[in-house]
Amino acid sequence: MIVLGIETSCDDTSVAIVDTQRATGQHILALQTHHQTQEHQPYQGVVPEIAARSHLSCLSTLIQDAMKEAETSWAQLDGIAATVGPGLMGGLIVGSTMAKTLAMIHDKRFWGVHHLEAHWLTVRLTSDVTFPFAGLLVSGGHTQLAVCHGPGHYDILGETRDDALGECFDKVAKMAGLGYPGGPLVEALAEQGRTGKFSLPRPMIHKKDCLDFSFSGLKTAVRDALSTAKDTQTRADLMADFQHCVGDILSCRVEGALKKIHDIPIKSFVLTGGVGSNRFLRQRIQDTVESYGLLYAAPPLHLCTDNAAMVAWAGAEHMRKGHTHTLDQPLRPRWPLEAIKNPLSKIAKL
Ligand code: KG4
Ligand code: ZN
Repeated sequence: MIVLGIETSCDDTSVAIVDTQRATGQHILALQTHHQTQEHQPYQGVVPEIAARSHLSCLSTLIQDAMKEAETSWAQLDGIAATVGPGLMGGLIVGSTMAKTLAMIHDKRFWGVHHLEAHWLTVRLTSDVTFPFAGLLVSGGHTQLAVCHGPGHYDILGETRDDALGECFDKVAKMAGLGYPGGPLVEALAEQGRTGKFSLPRPMIHKKDCLDFSFSGLKTAVRDALSTAKDTQTRADLMADFQHCVGDILSCRVEGALKKIHDIPIKSFVLTGGVGSNRFLRQRIQDTVESYGLLYAAPPLHLCTDNAAMVAWAGAEHMRKGHTHTLDQPLRPRWPLEAIKNPLSKIAKL
């Protein structure tokens, strides 16, 4: 099955074509992405109106480029998928309207993708991870521990009660004057630092049976510590302690989750989402998971952050189970993952 996917839910315009019949690791036939970092840089964050206009101006070209890269004709495509939520409304309108129009013109099946589900299923593009699997999704907007039983079927074990982890990295970077987007900049500075100088809080870590997260107290503690960290080396040390602290919190929650779901026959534990491209945290989670005798899997760094390969793949996973959305599929800027538990699975004839 060959599916074209479009991702426009935030600040990356991305188009990809995947083929489910290729071997694991070779599913991606094309991936074309325009990162809007430069456009949002002056504002130190994503400006929704600028994002929507930027998606509109480059999406058609990216689609043409992806079709060329994949050496695929419209006739060869089986379906078209686009993110329909959660995300910024302007971007969702641009990407989904393009996808629905192409599906109508070329008489293809359509699947409206849940952005978080796309992050969850990405790992199956590059690793032989079977259902059910458990995992940790850490992105700019979400932090969740869950079990994935199959496309459209998730049990959420824990979520953040305040800031998402990526948001926390971004705010720490901003307070430290590092710039935007913050995660990779914090990681780069932390690599120059030594841990042990700053004592930072590990919120809720001792709460037994709790699998939720809270990062706002940690963020405030970093802000306070920054007032004493004047030189670059001390700031690097603070970033190293911050990352170390996040590693402890995540590792503790992963252990709690693995204990709680010991009766579910999972073989793998997955790390995914933009923050999942942090090398320090990847190693930390891998060590924790492997100490429980489970397989650790994570998408390669460039597939952890937003991209259309994950959207095309999520659409393909549903389509090959016979799921198709009608073209009146609504856009949902806010959309809990649990809400897709029973996906619309009627086969819709266009
Ligand atoms: O998954 P993603 O690309 O977009 C959302 O769905 O939110 O995640 C973006 C988030 C941003 O907050 C960014 O700062 C963070 O992922 N991020 C990182 C790293 N790379 C991206 N955080 C920590 N370390 C990184 N290397
Ligand atoms: Zn994302």
